[in-house]
Amino acid sequence: MSETVRGVIARSKGAPVEIVDVVIPDPGPHDVVVRVQACGVCHTDLHYREGGINDEFPFLLGHEAAGLVETVGDAVTHVEVGDYVVLNWRAVCGECRACKRGRPWYCFASHNASKKMTLTDGTELSPALGIGAFVDKTLVHEGQCTKVDPAADPAVAGLLGCGVMAGIGAAMNTGNVSRGDTVAVIGCGGVGDAAIAGARLAGAKTIIAVDRDKQKLDWATDFGATHTVDATTEDVVEKIQEYTDGFGADVVIEAVGRPETWKQAFYARDLAGTVVLVGVPTPDMTLDMPLIDLFSRGGALKSSWYGDCLPERDFPTLVDLHLQGRLPLERFVTERISLDQVEAAFAAMHTGDVLRSVVVL
Ligand SMILES: NC(=O)c1ccc[n+]([C@@H]2O[C@H](COP(=O)([O-])OP(=O)(O)OC[C@H]3O[C@@H](n4cnc5c(N)ncnc54)[C@H](O)[C@@H]3O)[C@@H](O)[C@H]2O)c1
Ligand SMILES: [Zn+2]
Ligand SMILES: [Zn+2]
Repeated sequence: MSETVRGVIARSKGAPVEIVDVVIPDPGPHDVVVRVQACGVCHTDLHYREGGINDEFPFLLGHEAAGLVETVGDAVTHVEVGDYVVLNWRAVCGECRACKRGRPWYCFASHNASKKMTLTDGTELSPALGIGAFVDKTLVHEGQCTKVDPAADPAVAGLLGCGVMAGIGAAMNTGNVSRGDTVAVIGCGGVGDAAIAGARLAGAKTIIAVDRDKQKLDWATDFGATHTVDATTEDVVEKIQEYTDGFGADVVIEAVGRPETWKQAFYARDLAGTVVLVGVPTPDMTLDMPLIDLFSRGGALKSSWYGDCLPERDFPTLVDLHLQGRLPLERFVTERISLDQVEAAFAAMHTGDVLRSVVVL
């Protein structure tokens, strides 16, 4: 039996979001209906709204969510009714060329629900990142549900579903930050601060936070930064070198998504070090630099998609570390809001005083 619930959609490019009735179809054999308890507001939701991802309007926004499994399709074995889950956008397929070569964290054919949620007139919705979770209930593939310890607050645990996992994974998985490493993080929003928390968990000895906003640098220190650089008044590359015995950092994580900050990351790195790009650039941005520098400085220039995470491996572990007091995920939640405040949360992203607004249902 299909049912109708409230959800937040972006109907057309740039238009304010709206709360509308969303029809949830009966789950297909491997689909699951999840009652959403909390969903963070991510920059990517705003990118969808602004037409920066694709033109498949209307979008059902929201994708950093935790909730309870309410209904399961006939063939579902991965979760049961009542399970507490964090939703993910990497439901590993096991069949694509990346999976077959033993690199499932790149999975190129991640599973999604087999049916579409719609408006009441039958118009199909495009769920953000294949999830769509600013809604009372959502339809996803069973593989998009990762069970975690129900002791974790949904507003906190849900953030692992995107930005926080992207940041932690950029440090721990893509950057392979190891004991004794020096690390710099450029851009200390939710993603950058998560990279700082990840670098600390991995045993980095020096963690340098770079941002243009003083409040952000204070928060970065709370997450484990040992040094801070104010990019509005200080030379970022020189300062990172100064804090690393003149050499540059072993791993520099770019969490802004701009050519100038990527270049800073490149030159602030020690010889043969690693640059990780986790910030998402826009299609108009280009890089122009001497190829000889890429050769002579060596090392690895990597991009990090979703922190190269494996949700089934990483979410439960990170929730456990959080519950043990070793990963302060609760600090990412700046405010708890209702479904009708998503538009206000987009505005707050630009003022800089929010790490994450979380819709609580
Ligand atoms: N790769 C992925 O899988 C993935 C997943 C989620 C988000 N992201 C991307 O990560 C990026 C960061 O996301 P967020 O949620 O933390 O965004 P955010 O807007 O909260 O944070 C960006 C931070 O960068 C700072 N900043 C801006 N310009 C700067 C400059 N020139 N120098 C230093 N600091 C500067 C801002 O003050 C802000 O603190 C975005 O591009 C987002 O799309 C990537
Ligand atoms: Zn795959
Ligand atoms: Zn996101």
